[in-house]
Amino acid sequence: MKHRLLQQGRMLPSLEARLAQTYDLHRLIDEPDPKAFLAAHGSEFVGLVTTAANGAGAELLAALPALRVLSSFGVGLDKLDLAGAAKRGIAVGYTPDVLNDCVADIAMALMLDIARRTAEADRFVRQGKWSTPGLASFPLGRKVSGARLGIVGLGRIGRTIAKRGEGFEMAIRYHSRRPVADAVWPHEPSLLELARWADFLVVITAGGAATRHLINADVLDALGPDGFIVNVARGSVIDEAALVRALVQRRIAGAGLDVFENEPKVPAELMALDNVVLLPHIASGTRETRQAMADRVFDNLQAFFAGQAMLSPAPLS
Ligand code: NAP
Ligand code: 8YV
Repeated sequence: MKHRLLQQGRMLPSLEARLAQTYDLHRLIDEPDPKAFLAAHGSEFVGLVTTAANGAGAELLAALPALRVLSSFGVGLDKLDLAGAAKRGIAVGYTPDVLNDCVADIAMALMLDIARRTAEADRFVRQGKWSTPGLASFPLGRKVSGARLGIVGLGRIGRTIAKRGEGFEMAIRYHSRRPVADAVWPHEPSLLELARWADFLVVITAGGAATRHLINADVLDALGPDGFIVNVARGSVIDEAALVRALVQRRIAGAGLDVFENEPKVPAELMALDNVVLLPHIASGTRETRQAMADRVFDNLQAFFAGQAMLSPAPLS
């Protein structure tokens, strides 16, 4: 008999097809009244597949009293009720490492874009300004190669960004709560000091309550009018209202943002600014990486139901 699996949110079609072949899969999004469905059928499901974006909060877990395993598409754990899962002995899998390259690539892309103004320059060309006689030439950018790169959070992705920074001959320092034992880059215990030192501050900590508004007005002022910020972590890590004020008042030079506090809502003030590059949370979004994440979601489940350790179990504390 196939294990009964609930799917929360949409998944890569190839993953949905594979799950549907192997399991008795039910998609919650197909239910006109998900709450009523869960009240009637929640106790039938032993497995749950979800995404980092959709998560699995306490309410959903409570509606699934027979749940034994949860497999999440993504590395962020901020929307999963890990404490609740741990209490009930529910195994949780996620997809670390396979996305490091692509997220780090987008961090570099954002850094290059805001400093060299490539998106803005593209708009300049498309709007016919380049070929308009008498218009001022496109403004100069800021050199990235050899600049100072401050990384907030030297985890799996942070390290990958640091290695890319080395390729650009950047000076690199990082901040995290603890120094990373085998890191070759200097640890800066004070986030404010790191921001004061850096030309580019790249944010790649975990999300959740512990890092909420870690980057506040003081950190932005320490970065200063010549400093750029890049966020590929979670919108919650930056106080977005403070960031908007700092950008509008030109108290920092610019920002490259893949994530926002209330996705998919982006503050209207940011839309009007030229010193900001805005992406719709696409850092892991390549065919190759999304497929690798999908494979990991599937493999974690398969391992669990075969009575083996998952390939990537989430830390439950
Ligand atoms: P990771 O290996 O767990 O690294 C997280 C880092 O954050 C660690 O260095 C940790 O160091 C640091 N950190 C945690 N709390 C901190 C705090 N209060 N102050 C300073 N540093 C803190 O995670 P990862 O795989 O690199 O992923 C990082 C995050 O990126 C994910 O959690 C996810 O939210 C985000 N992400 C976004 C995208 C996207 O599409 N934009 C894609 C993938 C991941 P200490 O514990 O020593 O402080
Ligand atoms: C995901 C992410 O694409 O892995 C994460 O934590 O933020 C992205 O890689 C997205 O959240 C999938 O839900």
